[in-house]
Amino acid sequence: MFNPPPQRLRASREAVGKLYDELAKALPSGRVIRDSDILESYAQDESGAGSYPPQLLVRPLSTQHVSTTLEAAMRCGVPVVPRGGGTGRAGGCLAIEGGLVLSLESMNRILSVDPGSMTATVEPGVITGDLHEAVEAEGLFYPPDPSSLDSCHIGGNVATNASGARNPKYGCTRNQVLGLEMVLPSGRLLRTGGRSLKGVAGYDLTSLICGSEGTLAIMTQITVRLLPRPPHVETALMLFPGVDLASRAVVAIMRAGHNPRALEMMDHVAVDAVRGAAPFRFPEGNQNAVILELDGTDREAVFSELAEIGEMAQARLGASLVLVAKNNSERRDLWESRRVMSPSLREKWGMKYAEDVAVPLDHVPRLVELVHRRAEQSEIACSTYGHAGDGSLHVNLLFNDESAWPAVTKAAEGVYRDAVSLGGTITSEHGIGLIKRDYLPWEQSSPLIALQRGLKNLFDPEDLLNPGKIFLP
Ligand code: LAC
Ligand code: ZN
Repeated sequence: MFNPPPQRLRASREAVGKLYDELAKALPSGRVIRDSDILESYAQDESGAGSYPPQLLVRPLSTQHVSTTLEAAMRCGVPVVPRGGGTGRAGGCLAIEGGLVLSLESMNRILSVDPGSMTATVEPGVITGDLHEAVEAEGLFYPPDPSSLDSCHIGGNVATNASGARNPKYGCTRNQVLGLEMVLPSGRLLRTGGRSLKGVAGYDLTSLICGSEGTLAIMTQITVRLLPRPPHVETALMLFPGVDLASRAVVAIMRAGHNPRALEMMDHVAVDAVRGAAPFRFPEGNQNAVILELDGTDREAVFSELAEIGEMAQARLGASLVLVAKNNSERRDLWESRRVMSPSLREKWGMKYAEDVAVPLDHVPRLVELVHRRAEQSEIACSTYGHAGDGSLHVNLLFNDESAWPAVTKAAEGVYRDAVSLGGTITSEHGIGLIKRDYLPWEQSSPLIALQRGLKNLFDPEDLLNPGKIFLP
């Protein structure tokens, strides 16, 4: 289990003071901050991994400001930790070695939404939900929809290769990113990719930066591909008496040749937790739910496919009830329940340890079974829900007393082992960050980790850009 390491300041007070003086002169007023109350508000993220206040905060307005900051920080030997919306769940933006937090919140311009090339170019601080709105106003569509849509930043989404419910049909953030402008730790500017939908020249550095958790370079512009906005969306809620039936239904629906844009599963513990917390009213009883969403250009076709799946679920897959959202407002209410699942579980139980493991699609039912067994063996309550249609599952270990940590640790480690042994991963969408770096070797071989460390060293020879993340120091 993650044991928060103490913050170990890497740079001397003098080095940080010198950097402050230099940046305060070079950047516009108010952009370089060392007021401790403000620094404190940049000490945490949503991982619950502890509090690590930075010694300096810089809020750049431009690529030039990012470059100036990086160049000066490297020269002064001060670590730089990039930060987006602070919604990360793996501790990736925490200043565990102190230093400077570079918050990209003010670089929040949507530079272009271009229907001609079907691309948008944005600064990293744009809130993902704002990007959705801007492109949808043009009849276009940016699919990735993390649960934190209203507060997370596109820069953080790219840095963690975030995804969400629409992954089964549309893929994750990396699948949408065509090009990047970034600043290397040296302060040098680099551009990769562009606005063409294809491009295979040289190594795919754009993809390497996606998911690199702010350890290689700082993105200053992001170009994403857009799709035509699907005009018709249909959503159904299917209820099952057992989580085993629900998880098997997910696999059966995918294998029956359907291509849902979302296929989410949630067990009855999760469903219970959101009763009352969200506007959608789940029927009473121990209900395990599957949310199915289809989209397309032909209303009749989308609806009849939804109806066909619903009938199959009731006739052959053990569903006890299938409800279809009658309009957009019912659809929104249902998704709102899904979005508040994580905070609602925390609220109800007091403490939770949340996982984001994934396995090959056909192993989801087995994973669900193993997870519940691990939790039972450790005598810890457990709830599983998540993007089962792409093989990923949020496993939440629920407790309300610090003394449960050893049992929680045992259960969580068991879940990692199960996911890896089924051919899956210890993190499907939140990243390794700080909290899972001990476990990376459980999934990846030492030559693979060594090669990645070599890449890190090439980009950041002084190990000053987001140090201590992904790999153990
Ligand atoms: C979700 C976050 C926890 O799916 O990834 O709600
Ligand atoms: Zn998720």
